[in-house]
Amino acid sequence: MKIGILTGGGDCPGLNAVVRAVSKSALKKGWEIIGFRDGFKGLVENKFIKLKDRDVSGIIIKGGTILGTSNKANPFEYTLAPFGSAKSPRDMSAKAIANFRKNKLSALIAIGGDGSLILADKFYKKGLPVIGVPKTIDNDLAATDITFGFDSALRVATDAIDKLHTTAESHHRILIVETMGRYAGWIALRAGIAGGGDIILIPEVPYKDEDIVKAVKDRCKQGKNFSIVVVAEGAKPAKGKMTVKKVVEGSPEPIRLGGVSYKIAEMLDKEVHLESRVVVLGHLQRGGRPTAFDRWLATGFGIKAAEMVENKKFGRMASFKKFQFTDVKINEAVKKLKRVSPNCQEIKMAVNVGTSFGNRKITG
Ligand code: F6P
Repeated sequence: MKIGILTGGGDCPGLNAVVRAVSKSALKKGWEIIGFRDGFKGLVENKFIKLKDRDVSGIIIKGGTILGTSNKANPFEYTLAPFGSAKSPRDMSAKAIANFRKNKLSALIAIGGDGSLILADKFYKKGLPVIGVPKTIDNDLAATDITFGFDSALRVATDAIDKLHTTAESHHRILIVETMGRYAGWIALRAGIAGGGDIILIPEVPYKDEDIVKAVKDRCKQGKNFSIVVVAEGAKPAKGKMTVKKVVEGSPEPIRLGGVSYKIAEMLDKEVHLESRVVVLGHLQRGGRPTAFDRWLATGFGIKAAEMVENKKFGRMASFKKFQFTDVKINEAVKKLKRVSPNCQEIKMAVNVGTSFGNRKITG
């Protein structure tokens, strides 16, 4: 047997742990394994490396991906040189399929978020034996209880909140920490709870300026002349839209969010006597070594994916549910995002320790 593996979309701590687990497991079974360079770009351009044990030894601790990745390589609407451009995308899927066949592969393992998994499913529908592995720091895939990378992002965000408490308290300031997470508020919610954030703003609970101001003023009345506001990049006002930072042409998910915290800082500067400062965590949340939990989870996903190849469970994605590794259909997995429910236990938990969600309707 010979199998191919690729990592697509944004990088995320734990990708290398999956590549290692799949490769070691495949090599142990006597299979050959090749890793395509830069996600689906490598499949279109037939650029890959043969993975041997020494290539994947010692990589479990490394962030990023040794294979490289791309969030612009959509083989069905290819915009990358030399085949296409942003103005004239080309369908390069036939070339990708031809490369798969030319390399005499028995299966392709695609590790990615919803964008890459949709592409994986399109190839499955065109006859390729594809298996998906979910990755995203956003933890927004409904078909799995958790994705690797999320815990590592939480570590970074919680650490940042802990550190920012020092200046907030000493200077009597409002420190606004902006997290990633796209359309889901998981990173802001969990890091906000873990770091003791005073106000948490997430996309699923639209905020009201006056309710944020009230929360800050209520804290001042209690003698707490500082506040930590944890804001998800997708947070939006009750009568408004999310803040779009830029649009990346050619990306399967072109919208990039970011900058909502500056709007909140500007508003607070007008309404309260405390000075506001903004820290946008950005790609720090995707960087560095994966946590122990993410290494463990990613290893489990990799072993599961290799087992799925052996059992010919194509068109399916490895998933982790109720502390068991299992599998689900890729097309079911990408149908719906997992978002925070405003009535969930976690929100109640936070409200019960005094956290405001910038919306007086959220009372726990
Ligand atoms: O999906 C992961 C993620 O990091 C999101 O949280 C964020 O909105 C987006 O990717 C950023 O994308 P890029 O790396 O292209 O700026």
